[in-house]
Amino acid sequence: MRIGIVGCGGIAVTHAKCIKQLAEHELIAFADIKPERAETFAKEYGGNAYSSMEELLEKESPDVIHICTPHYLHTSMAIYGLQHGVHVFMEKPPVINREQWKELKEAALHSDQQLGLCFQNRYNPSILKAKELIGSGETGKVLGARGIVTWNRTKEYYTGSDWRGRLEYEGGGALINQSIHTLDLLHYLVGQKVKSVDAVIGNQHLKGVIEVEDMMSAYIRYPEAVVCFYVTTAYNADSAPLIEVNCENMIIRIEELSVTCYHKDGNVVQLPIEGKKGYGKSYWGAGHEDCIQDFYHSIEQNKSFRLNVSTMEETVLLMLGAYESGRSGQEVSF
Ligand SMILES: NC(=O)c1ccc[n+]([C@@H]2O[C@H](COP(=O)([O-])OP(=O)(O)OC[C@H]3O[C@@H](n4cnc5c(N)ncnc54)[C@H](O)[C@@H]3O)[C@@H](O)[C@H]2O)c1
Repeated sequence: MRIGIVGCGGIAVTHAKCIKQLAEHELIAFADIKPERAETFAKEYGGNAYSSMEELLEKESPDVIHICTPHYLHTSMAIYGLQHGVHVFMEKPPVINREQWKELKEAALHSDQQLGLCFQNRYNPSILKAKELIGSGETGKVLGARGIVTWNRTKEYYTGSDWRGRLEYEGGGALINQSIHTLDLLHYLVGQKVKSVDAVIGNQHLKGVIEVEDMMSAYIRYPEAVVCFYVTTAYNADSAPLIEVNCENMIIRIEELSVTCYHKDGNVVQLPIEGKKGYGKSYWGAGHEDCIQDFYHSIEQNKSFRLNVSTMEETVLLMLGAYESGRSGQEVSF
């Protein structure tokens, strides 16, 4: 397949490196509104440079495009791609509000092309191991979970960007940008339908600097479990997110590649995890490579990619619900 990347900033480097690993596919074009960025990528990875996605699609007719632009552009660009007959692999977040989600879902469900959502941490070996363990029945029922993300995002991180920290462009802050993966993984591991979310959002270290939140605390109810979630970007280091699942027979604690089971009889077992070093930062998770590879396998084998608008809907609605709750001060029910 012939592949184009739209948006040649930070994360596009990871996409380009991952695609380069796929010997049977070819990276052929790049687009960025800042043309010099597309040209730098074209020089580095081979292919042609364009200053818009529309031009790239018209001149190159690729089979697949990767959307690596700022949040507010994801939905419209993905829909444009699908409607022009290309498969689309889009960075998170897929949307920044409910209207966009409705449009994106509609477009994806009526398209013959695949739309892949980049929630690459679902491919982290530690997460796969924990999910497998819970699925085996050995843990007993899931009763609850907690997730903690303490990262460092400075004033300069926001003031140096033309879109970050602005509600209109980013849709939110600490949740939608930094910790959406952790929220998704908690939901995935609990494996039940959400009943409600009650969230508090605020600004602590970036009060008056950004329009979006720099912290969120959320209490999420499930039929048989509760989840406590906390994120802040006010810490002065990027620590690995902590994910813990409290089950009938044990507590499973996940940090980066480590999974430790604290059995309720006092036995502590560290599970062997085989992980490879991927492209990207370990505290994000390094699953882009596996995720992108799986997307291409799905297209080749004509089967639905695992992370699509149907399978990821609950995560997206949970994220939007958490914002609605944080902004209104009311618990949001599903
Ligand atoms: N999956 C992950 O873990 C992960 C990690 C980092 C970033 N991301 C996501 O990737 C996206 C990009 O993040 P980034 O850090 O690379 O941002 P960035 O600002 O470094 O890069 C965005 C690029 O898009 C370009 N752009 C803006 N408008 C455009 C347009 N209309 N047409 C073409 N190009 C345009 C910009 O010029 C810039 O080069 C964000 O949505 C972010 O959430 C995901």
